[in-house]
Amino acid sequence: MNPTPPLGGPGLAQQRRLVTDIPGPASRELLERRQRSVARGLSHVLPVFVTAAGGGVVVDADGNSLIDFGSGIAVTSVGNSADLVSSRVAEQVAQFTHTCFMVAPYQGYVEVCEELNRLTPGDHEKRSALFNSGAEAVENAVKIARHATGRQAVVVFDHAYHGRTNLTMAMTAKNMPYKDGFGPFASDVYRVPMAYPFRWPGGPAACKAEALEVVKGLIHTQVGEENVAAIVIEPVQGEGGFIVPPDGFLPGLADFCRSNGIVFVADEIQSGFCRTGDWFAVDHEGVVPDLITTAKGIAGGLPLAGVTGRADMMDAVHPGGLGGTFGGNPVACAAALGAIETMAKEDLPAAARHIGDVMLPRLRKLAESQPAIGDVRGRGAMIAIELVRPGTIEPDSAAAAKVAKACHAVGLVLLTCGTYSNVLRFLPPLVIGNDLLSEGLSILEDAFAGL
Ligand SMILES: Cc1ncc(COP(=O)(O)O)c(C=O)c1O
Repeated sequence: MNPTPPLGGPGLAQQRRLVTDIPGPASRELLERRQRSVARGLSHVLPVFVTAAGGGVVVDADGNSLIDFGSGIAVTSVGNSADLVSSRVAEQVAQFTHTCFMVAPYQGYVEVCEELNRLTPGDHEKRSALFNSGAEAVENAVKIARHATGRQAVVVFDHAYHGRTNLTMAMTAKNMPYKDGFGPFASDVYRVPMAYPFRWPGGPAACKAEALEVVKGLIHTQVGEENVAAIVIEPVQGEGGFIVPPDGFLPGLADFCRSNGIVFVADEIQSGFCRTGDWFAVDHEGVVPDLITTAKGIAGGLPLAGVTGRADMMDAVHPGGLGGTFGGNPVACAAALGAIETMAKEDLPAAARHIGDVMLPRLRKLAESQPAIGDVRGRGAMIAIELVRPGTIEPDSAAAAKVAKACHAVGLVLLTCGTYSNVLRFLPPLVIGNDLLSEGLSILEDAFAGL
């Protein structure tokens, strides 16, 4: 008999508690059903089935309570089933669930756009449009940039991840598992090197000075500035390995775009909404993008995404040129308004900075005794360690997988990432308590001790 699941949300007991092996019998039974019914192309990180989640924990079908260092890949920043998200969703579901904004509009959509226009960087006049997923937002940002400039080329970076639709696969750098066998891909997408201090050929100090020149040079010689509609960049790269470019790189890129009539698109789908200690990662250096894409953390777990940008660019598209049946669904909009209110009320940018202040020193200390840790990096609550063969920068994906597996077995939800699959990334909900944060780090330290 499966235990009766507790109620999710912030009232859930904030503790790690294992009552069976991971996975326990109830999860194992569901895994078998999953294997018979769900397509093989969908993988999972943890072999447990969730029945409740809230604050900094996830509870599984066997009653195990796990510490959450993943937030469903940077989504539940306000915590699962956060109070204002649940209450607003419940109210909205009771009123109406869908009309299609393109058929008969509703206030929640307009309010989310007002919030996006207010919160995103820059005090110029803005407009927003809402979609279902991050990939869809990126596709639409490119559509808007092409329409506004009359140009076609799109410039993206090494280690970039922008989604799994055809255009965003073309924009994504990593072949396996995202692109392999799924071509042909959309054309007119050009890739340039990312300012990746740890792996810059001339070393981190040279990265700062050289990266921008390399990027500008390649665009000039291989594409032509006048052909480029947009440069799309994640201000802190996510799936590619939590790569933080050196200060000066993003402002330099924004200047280059401005001088050449290129639309500067910040893909803040993973880094946005308080994750890095600011509302948006570009705020760190006062960079004002022309367009910004958001999703993930925006709506406390409900599917919603947005493109926000300069009114003249956004309004360059003819009426009817943007949209979709479900984009900006009223329930997802209600969730977003609850999530955004929570972020402001609970000062979640400060909470993210606090998480970074706790994690970074402990990870740096761990790195002193663990030569497999080649780099400790990140900002706010978007933190990672990159694993290498000691004394080299040769990626060690096996070590990353081993540490992650050891953490999973004792009840810590931990994700990997990186072009070379050798990065452990830490994305706790921003509402996680200090005790759980510290316990999660202890589990990680123990896992390294067992390497
Ligand atoms: C930076 C970035 N852009 C786009 C996406 C795609 O978002 P979605 O999975 O909602 O389509 C992701 C997802 O991880 C992302 O991290």
